[in-house]
Amino acid sequence: MVSKSLKEKFLNQKAVVLWMTRLSGSGKTTLAENLESELFSMGYLAQILDGDNMRSGINKNLGFSAEDREENIRRIAEISRLFLNCGLICINSFISPTNKIREMAKDVIGRDSFIEIFLNAPIEICEKRDVKGLYKAARAGKIKNFTGIDSPYEIPMHPDIEINTGELSVEESVEKCMRIIIERIRS
Ligand code: ADX
Repeated sequence: MVSKSLKEKFLNQKAVVLWMTRLSGSGKTTLAENLESELFSMGYLAQILDGDNMRSGINKNLGFSAEDREENIRRIAEISRLFLNCGLICINSFISPTNKIREMAKDVIGRDSFIEIFLNAPIEICEKRDVKGLYKAARAGKIKNFTGIDSPYEIPMHPDIEINTGELSVEESVEKCMRIIIERIRS
């Protein structure tokens, strides 16, 4: 058996899941990509999971009803657990809109390995950015059940890290996360 801890030793890191949550346009993808790059430059290996690689492949049969979102996150949590067992750092950016969904992900992954990062950007800022034009479409009634418009987002109660992406720059956000993350991944 090649155990998880042997793999962690091999990679010279402790495996964790960095779970980013908040609305579309809150900066999850930008922060995920910058964290991956910063970690890599320090010699740490991470994998990003997000809507692009999950919903276009393994989860392409799922939509945005409450049940489908739950199944989306359940599968993602199971996949993250496999990455964890391989000694990798998993950087996940998903809206994951409810406490129930996030608690389920924590249970599947294991609380000790789960670092919850709440990107505390107000909806006005997310909507103003509207990178993909989805808020406009949702306001026009062309997309139903859009999170923040006609589908709920519950604020996390005890996030491990809270980043106000409306106020901090990308560099400051990365720095704030890294200060906490680094202690957890140093082997
Ligand atoms: S989650 O709620 O199940 O966690 P997930 O993070 O996978 O959502 O996907 C969110 C992405 O899907 C958004 O960034 C946006 O690009 C797209 N999207 C399409 N329809 C919706 C919708 N109704 N609500 C939220 N996001 C949507």
